[in-house]
Amino acid sequence: MIQASAPGKLILCGEHAVVYGCPAIALPLNQLRASVQIVPAVADQGITIHAPDLERMWNSDAHADNPLIALTQATLDYLQADVSDMHITITAAIPVASGMGSGAAVATALVRALAGLVQHELTPAEIAQLVYTSEQRYHGTPSGIDNTVIAYEQPIWFVRQTPAQPDEPPPAPIIEAVTIGAPLTLVIADTGKRCPTHLPVGHVRRNWLRSPDQYQTLFDAVATLVQQMRLALQQGNLAELGQRLTDNQRLLEQIGVSSEELEQLVQSALDAGAWGAKLSGGGWGGIMIALTAPTTQAQVAMALRQAGAVRVLTTEIADFDH
Ligand code: PMV
Repeated sequence: MIQASAPGKLILCGEHAVVYGCPAIALPLNQLRASVQIVPAVADQGITIHAPDLERMWNSDAHADNPLIALTQATLDYLQADVSDMHITITAAIPVASGMGSGAAVATALVRALAGLVQHELTPAEIAQLVYTSEQRYHGTPSGIDNTVIAYEQPIWFVRQTPAQPDEPPPAPIIEAVTIGAPLTLVIADTGKRCPTHLPVGHVRRNWLRSPDQYQTLFDAVATLVQQMRLALQQGNLAELGQRLTDNQRLLEQIGVSSEELEQLVQSALDAGAWGAKLSGGGWGGIMIALTAPTTQAQVAMALRQAGAVRVLTTEIADFDH
């Protein structure tokens, strides 16, 4: 049996603007992981994927278009592997469509397990590219930040590059390691509202097409904040980082991807003493994050539960984390 896993992720800052070429910072979420197990199957059974958590099962004969079946085939082709019968089991501790990267984590664990099956070592860049191609096929125009931070499993600075001509494939993104000068305590609260990323992303695209100057100004303001946050992270200046996170939330509200529930949680975290708070990921639901001192983490977590969060967890991010 072959087994592999991949972490969830958090977007610290810069979501949405990242789709338009602005920088963003993402962090791996190591305590929430997706796992994939592969066992060989008898001849002519094809590829079966079983997701017991979701009570779903797909087979390559009946569901050739399923994204995970298609990713399996694409990865086997890339690996030039001559294996056609296997049973794949997927389990994930990451809530679906909540902004914690469940889809990209499952896909990354799957690619890693397939590479393990044929004993072929893949680089993080190769894994990220295979997952990106699959996400692009099913989710429109993802920036690529999710699959990248999950494949690299370290805090990253990410800038999507736009092709010179619209019909050309985009050049490789800029990916840089981010220095974390002091450990971050982040409280993550889930609104319990599930929202597929393509909905707010499509909304932003329509608004951007309608009012390009207004949206470019908002994206430029996000880019400036993200640069300031990289510096604050490097210097371990967490109070400054927190203030900028909240500033980023205000811009996300103007971009049109926040929600009443998210704003209520952000306000509760700030009232309970967090240094800063914002939604994380696609928005309109999903999660928000609050940056706190280790000593205020418990009171912020309690305030978020009282404000209606369905799930609250805390993560510590440090440079030695990866
Ligand atoms: O909803 P998530 O966590 O997958 O975040 C998507 C991040 C966006 O910037 C909104 C979209 C993208 O492709 O980068």
